[in-house]
Amino acid sequence: SFRGPRMRAALRAMEVFVTRRIPPAGLQVLAEAGGCAVRLWDSEEPVPRAELLSAVAGKRGLLCLLSERVDAELLEAAGPGLKVISTMSVGFDHLDLREIKKRGIRVGYTPDVLTDATAELCVALLLATCRRLPESAEEVKNGGWTTWKPLWMCGYGLSGSTVGIIGLGRIGQAVARRLKPFGVKKFLYAGNRPKTEIAAEFQAEFVPITRLAEEADFVVVTCALTPETQGICNKDFFCRMKKNAVFINTSRGAVVNQEDLYDALVNGQIAAAGLDVTTPEPLPTDHPLLSLKNCVILPHIGSATYSTRNTMSVLAAKNLLAGLKGEPMPSELLL
Ligand code: DGY
Repeated sequence: SFRGPRMRAALRAMEVFVTRRIPPAGLQVLAEAGGCAVRLWDSEEPVPRAELLSAVAGKRGLLCLLSERVDAELLEAAGPGLKVISTMSVGFDHLDLREIKKRGIRVGYTPDVLTDATAELCVALLLATCRRLPESAEEVKNGGWTTWKPLWMCGYGLSGSTVGIIGLGRIGQAVARRLKPFGVKKFLYAGNRPKTEIAAEFQAEFVPITRLAEEADFVVVTCALTPETQGICNKDFFCRMKKNAVFINTSRGAVVNQEDLYDALVNGQIAAAGLDVTTPEPLPTDHPLLSLKNCVILPHIGSATYSTRNTMSVLAAKNLLAGLKGEPMPSELLL
């Protein structure tokens, strides 16, 4: 019977915790699968840390978002029964992979399905920043638009420009592919190693990050956050950039030293910056960067299209289920 202690134990063994109200498509995949009992933090807001730590206790699976730090503390709280972590994100800097691997836990993530949406947002942010769209729209509303003026609200265009991409991975390539038709003259890229075949599509040249900073009219950051990339866009980097260059970051806030970026924007060391990611997130509304007209900040919406978020939730759910069953995941992060 379902009431027997053995059955209860078996069901408990397949309990999973989902840390947020994810798009319905993903929840449906979990509901239809059967064989696992889902406990959902049924809210748009993140689960408070203390609640998270108690909710994961004894769970076999965890479906989380980039807002949850999965570290030794959380893994201890979960206990040895935790076998699968599925994050509804391509980024995994919130996961302590060393601790996870040590415990033999498998990890699923959501690459590929958000590449187009994120690259599109990156291009939108770049154009909004270099052509000063938010600032211009504001002028229409506040009466600053008095007449057509030859030098008013001028910015910088992509035609004939050099674009430097930090991290020519899936998203970096998708950005380059979209920017090329704007008439970009040259692509540079920096990263761990040259990707000769991939770069050939854009005739992109692999250069040290210092040279990328010095030569690019647009710097676009699309790399993963790792110990190697943490803070690489710092004072030295911004000092090397051209005064009329534009800086765009759609990866993770911590790749950038925000104080150094603020100084570069205030001192006219660079022309403008567009950020879809910051540290912390959300950025406090009184943060100095928000006082600058030449800085466009978005609330981490790179993958935010209805269809992409739905697809991400389905993939995260499928990764979780496959992990629970001991089967290969559709997208497993191999540790
Ligand atoms: C990710 O998936 O890592 C993005 O930052 C959000 O979609």
